[in-house]
Amino acid sequence: MAESTKTATLNIDGSTYELPVFSPTAGPDVIDIRKLYAQAGVFTYDPGFTSTASCDSTITYIDGDKGELLHRGYPIDQLASQSHYLEVCYLLLYGELPSAAKLEDFETRITRHTMVHEQMHYFFRGFRRDAHPMATLVGVVGAMSAFYHDSTDVSDDWQREVAAIRLIAKLPTIAAMAYKYSIGQPFVYPRNDLDYASNFLNMCFSVPAEEYHVNPILSRAMDRIFILHADHEQNASTSTVRLASSSGANPFACIAAGIACLWGPAHGGANQACLEMLREIGTVDRIPEYIARAKDKNDPFRLMGFGHRVYKNTDPRATVLKESADEVLELLGVEDNPLLQVAKELEQVALNDPYFIEKKLFPNVDFYSGIILEAMGFPTSMFTPIFALSRTVGWISQWKEMIADPQNKIGRPRQLYLGETARNYVDIEKR
Ligand code: SDX
Repeated sequence: MAESTKTATLNIDGSTYELPVFSPTAGPDVIDIRKLYAQAGVFTYDPGFTSTASCDSTITYIDGDKGELLHRGYPIDQLASQSHYLEVCYLLLYGELPSAAKLEDFETRITRHTMVHEQMHYFFRGFRRDAHPMATLVGVVGAMSAFYHDSTDVSDDWQREVAAIRLIAKLPTIAAMAYKYSIGQPFVYPRNDLDYASNFLNMCFSVPAEEYHVNPILSRAMDRIFILHADHEQNASTSTVRLASSSGANPFACIAAGIACLWGPAHGGANQACLEMLREIGTVDRIPEYIARAKDKNDPFRLMGFGHRVYKNTDPRATVLKESADEVLELLGVEDNPLLQVAKELEQVALNDPYFIEKKLFPNVDFYSGIILEAMGFPTSMFTPIFALSRTVGWISQWKEMIADPQNKIGRPRQLYLGETARNYVDIEKR
């Protein structure tokens, strides 16, 4: 915990309270209100947590004004261009870039945990074929606590480490199985001779009937998408994982809770919602109609893939993804993809519209990731599962940090109660 260097003074009804202020290594100071209720008998009020720090952390830093994203201090654009996903996983989990020997050991441990318990194949059979892959993912990941009992005790260091490795290793296998199940194709086993991204593409797109060769440009783009979605400070799904974990729940149940939260269209579900929106717009000449709807206070419609709670200039991940989108679409010879034309025109119109400039709304990570995944052949229903498998390392890293924090206690917010005060029961005859 940082040292308090100054205090904030709060005056309520003639009483004065001194609250410690902590200064971070980067970002805004925080006012420590942990003793406020005991001292002043008041709560703070912050629905949506727009001004609330829920924890201290050393994993990821975001500067919303500068459009900066650091993982353990390393800028996301450097990691996306010079690193690869499993090395970023190591960095997020252990805090430092690995030596060659440590990286090889880590990658070997992940590779050797990519298969799932064979009995889980039967677990899938209980789902309808048309189940959304996110529904399957939530169910199967939660069920991992029924298959891997030897890594559910969060008080045991070794079990926590094994659960972390198992989750990072098996999420791609489970996500690929959810996809194969939804299209009626047989499950494809992971292969130890393929890198993480190539393995995922092979499990999704290969079939027993013929050889499948992973295109290195596509696996590089896949790996980059994994990196860009790996962690993002205390976003809604990470906060869900932290809150679930604060009760001591096992890691598989907590990650399943994070997956459930990520599914929402305001969060990780935005990549699917964005592609569906582009498809609904259909042609460039219909963009003004949708821009008008996004600005209409009486219309709940929002431009999916635009805006962010923290970034108020650019989402640095979208900048990197935009480059990848051009590479992948050129490789696939679909640079004139009508969806991409609508996306590029929509981006230009929105970025020059006074409403979006004033509200600081611009393309976020979900805007371009959907276009790349669509071009790679994934159905929109697989976009959020891919986000979930990428973010698993972030959830796990934040979970490990929280469990190890001596201040860790069960999260239990209070409320501003506006309901009825105490009143007596009325018999039905008298109502
Ligand atoms: C992710 O938190 C994270 O880090 C998330 C994430 C991660 O990596 O974990 O980055 C991943 O979730 C990215 C965001 C994906 N969601 C979308 O693309 C859905 C569309 N975006 C909006 O739903 C919205 O921008 C949010 C949810 C992303 C952010 O919402 P905020 O910060 O709570 O802002 P707000 O809803 O209060 O909106 C502020 C104003 C409002 O107008 P006023 O009430 O002030 O007049 O901006 C408007 C909103 O109406 N607005 C939009 C808009 N987003 C906000 N108007 C039109 N289209 C939009 N997309």
